[in-house]
Order: sequence, then C-alpha cells, then structure tokens
Amino acid sequence: QLPSRVKLVDVGPRDGLQNEKQPVPAPVKIELVHRLQRAGLREIEVTSFVSPKWVPQMADAAEVMAGIERRAGVRYSVLTPNLKGFEAALTTRPDEVVVFGAASEAFSQRNINCSIAESIERFAPVVEAARRHGIKVRAALSCAVGCPYEGEIAPERVAQVARQMKDIGVQHLGVADTIGVGTPRKVQRALEAALRHFPLDEVSGHFHDTYGQALANTLAALELGVWQFDASVAGLGGCPYAKGATGNVATEDVVFMLHGLDIETGIDLEALVDAGASISAHLQRPPNSRAATAILNK
Ligand code: HMG
Ligand code: MG
Repeated sequence: QLPSRVKLVDVGPRDGLQNEKQPVPAPVKIELVHRLQRAGLREIEVTSFVSPKWVPQMADAAEVMAGIERRAGVRYSVLTPNLKGFEAALTTRPDEVVVFGAASEAFSQRNINCSIAESIERFAPVVEAARRHGIKVRAALSCAVGCPYEGEIAPERVAQVARQMKDIGVQHLGVADTIGVGTPRKVQRALEAALRHFPLDEVSGHFHDTYGQALANTLAALELGVWQFDASVAGLGGCPYAKGATGNVATEDVVFMLHGLDIETGIDLEALVDAGASISAHLQRPPNSRAATAILNK
C-alpha cells in the first residue's frame, strides 16, 4: 500500500537556479518562491550559503532570503556546507539547513573540496550549532546510486555515510541520485541502506531525471513507504560538479503522477504549472516537464 500523502520540497530555486549560465536576478528568484508557495508548496529549498567563487549563482543568498514574504506553514531551507555558511544563513532565519555530503570520494572532492571523512568533521559543528538554535538539519547524500567519476556506488557505501551522518546528529537524510543513473531496484537498495540508520519519516528521495528514470524511481520509493521527495519546478537545474546531469524530476510531473494515484500533496497543479511557465519564460526556454507541456498546450 502506497502512502496516502506526500510532502514535496521544491528545490528549483536552489538546485535549479544554481546551474544557470546567466545569473538570475534576486527579484526573479523571490518571485519564483512566492509563486511556489501560492501553488501550495509547503517546503521550499531557497538558496545556498556556499562560496560565491564556487557557485556565483547563489551569491545573493542573503538578499533572496530577506526578500521572501513568508507564509505561515511554509518551511524555507538553505544549504550550508560549513560553519561559515551556517553563520551567514542563521541571520536569515531558515527553518531547516542542509549539509551535503556524498557516497563517493571523488564527488566529495569536486563538490566540496574535501574527503568524506573531512566533510563529516565540517558538518558536525554545523549540526551542533543548528540544533542549539532549534533549526532542523537535513543531509543530502549525493551519488547514492552512481557517480560521474567513480561509476556505480554500492548500497554499503550509502549505509556507511548514512551512519556517520546519524552519528553527528543529522535528523533527516535525502538520498540523492545526482546524475539520474538510478533505476527502480537500485534506488530501492540505496534507500534501504539509508533506512538502516534513519527512520522512514526521515528519509527522502532526490532524483534527477537525466535518463528519464525519476518517476519510476519515485514510485519505487513510494513502494518502500518513503513519502518525502525533492523535485524542481519546470525540471530546472543540474549540478555544476556533475557534468551532463540534468535537472531534478519536474515537480509538475511528480504531482500529476501522485494525484493520479490519489495521493494527496496539497499542491494546485495549475498554479504550479504557471509558476514553472513563468520562470521558464524568464530563462527563455520551455519548461522541462512533460506534464507542464501537455497542460500548457491543452
Ligand atoms: P574551500 O575552498 O575548500 O573552503 O571550499 P575554505 O574553507 O578553504 O575557504 C576558501 C574561501 O571560501 C575563503 O575565502 C572562505 O571565506 C570562503 P577567501 O579567504 O579565499 O576569500 N568560504 C565561503 N564563502 C561563503 N560561504 C561559505 C564559505 N565557505 C568558505 N559557506 C566550500 C569549500 C564547501 C566552501 C566550497 O567547495 C563550496 O562552496 N562548494 C559549493 C558546492 C555547491 O554548492 N555545489 C552544489 C550544491 S550540492 C548539489 O547540488 C547536490 C544536491 O542537489 C544533491 C544531489 O543532487 O546530489 C544537494
Ligand atoms: Mg541535486
């Protein structure tokens, strides 16, 4: 039996827009967040407090956070790779912070310039500080199925890093198929590895749709009882440190599938499609979502 309700985190403003060649002005990002919350999103990953030398697209993190008109019941999360990022984020009052590690050594080095072991050492004080301030900490675990540099990743490695994240006090683990090479059974194995160390209510799926597998992988995750997923409006994005990886699964496509399965999301699909059309118009390309394209052409 599938879950009757799913929580979607729209990561478009962060995972999506971090990857745009042309800088997206802060007011456009803020407008996107506003449209997402009007469409019923209850959790939005807004931005990252990372080095502007590494990811210039997120240099306006504080400005974007300050510009959002917050809605009651909506949670706003931000990425914080280290204490410096956390301290900058703290002044902008996030509801949740995200540390991001990897199940692959090579990806860890390319993405955050340190080994997995070093990353855990850096995250520990972030988790401690966040918990002191009553802010929830999620960890994203990249390359949980495959790595652009190391190839296939064994579930055992996911379990290992999951345990390390748990040991430092991380509350929630997002299992990420960064480059979208996962297929349903492999994704289930990765999720099961995470579930050895985190409860079902604290594991989520973060699927990129590079090979068109993300909806199938979402259904496979639902079969395990996983009920929280990241998705990106209009299928925005990719990762600057994973060449060729496309965006997250489009939120519109996930919502269409879930509603068809009678699974509640609280999201108004038409309003969501409008949000995606609006940011896509700004980026001067059509939304990368089959459901949005179908609805817009109806
Ligand atoms: P580093 O160079 O090793 O850091 O980078 P450092 O501590 O040696 O500091 C070097 C310089 O960066 C210093 O400045 C620091 O002040 C500054 P300088 O003295 O040279 O002027 N610095 C910072 N500035 C602003 N905010 C900070 C910060 N930290 C240091 N937080 C670091 C290490 C982690 C900072 C760097 O590698 C970085 O910013 N990486 C960002 C990578 C990134 O954002 N990747 C994309 C997000 S992850 C993702 O997309 C995957 C995900 O979606 C899941 C999935 O799909 O897999 C989450
Ligand atoms: Mg991602």
